[in-house]
Amino acid sequence: MTLATTLSVRTTGGCGAEIEGVDAARASDAEIDLIRETVFQRGVAFLHDQKMTPEEQIAFARRIGPIVVNRYFPKSERYPEIAKVEKTAEQTTNIGGGWHTDHSYDEAPAMGSVLLAIQTPPSGGDTLFADMYAAYDALSDGLKDTLSRLKAHHASAHVFGEGSVYAKTDQAVLAGHKDVPEAIHPVVITHPDSGRKVLYVNPAFTTGIVGWTREESLALLGFLYTHAVKPQFVHRFQWRPGSMAIWDNRCTWHQAMNDYHGHHRLMHRITLDGVKLS
Ligand code: SIN
Repeated sequence: MTLATTLSVRTTGGCGAEIEGVDAARASDAEIDLIRETVFQRGVAFLHDQKMTPEEQIAFARRIGPIVVNRYFPKSERYPEIAKVEKTAEQTTNIGGGWHTDHSYDEAPAMGSVLLAIQTPPSGGDTLFADMYAAYDALSDGLKDTLSRLKAHHASAHVFGEGSVYAKTDQAVLAGHKDVPEAIHPVVITHPDSGRKVLYVNPAFTTGIVGWTREESLALLGFLYTHAVKPQFVHRFQWRPGSMAIWDNRCTWHQAMNDYHGHHRLMHRITLDGVKLS
């Protein structure tokens, strides 16, 4: 895919696409359209060497979609729209270190995120992205038919509530919240922008299949979770300061690697608002 400018889109293995030749802070309307379309079709767009002030990141994100403020992440001092995804040299727990898709516990889950690398460790700190279009497409027709009739519970309390997983770590600032929404979504959704079918459950926030026992739910979800991260569906993205990923939560999972103890990693994340899924 190319525009009349020098901009080019190169599919990255497993998931996503890298866009070269775009200055996101000064992008034309046609370039923004192409970034949005890449995100909707490939799940995530990767850009490098972006020089952006916080104001420019906010303005860019607004051109991709409306912003929603994450309830739990620490905010950047002057910009509530920007969440700080940070692990200091002293901390041992990172944020987003397990496979997940953001805000699936909301009735209208976040559409996506715009994550900008501010400080990266000398090595490590990559993010894995998995393609839930491809994971769904690779299932048998029989299982697709069964999944098409199922709904799943999604919850936030066990991750961000009182006594939740983060509470026992050095990222405890993320825990202890009373505002802990839950939602029910179809296990297979139709992506609101691409119209394609997507597998929409995730290991962090999906707590069970509606009408099934916990044991039954764990068996099915366990199979789907193993299937969904087969190497052919996953891309590993290496950051450097100025790298940016714009991802679509409806058709991807992501996981931040925690393999750089003793070094500081700081990312600025803006979350984009979404719609109810069906
Ligand atoms: C996140 O889950 O938003 C964090 C991703 C990352 O830090 O790479």
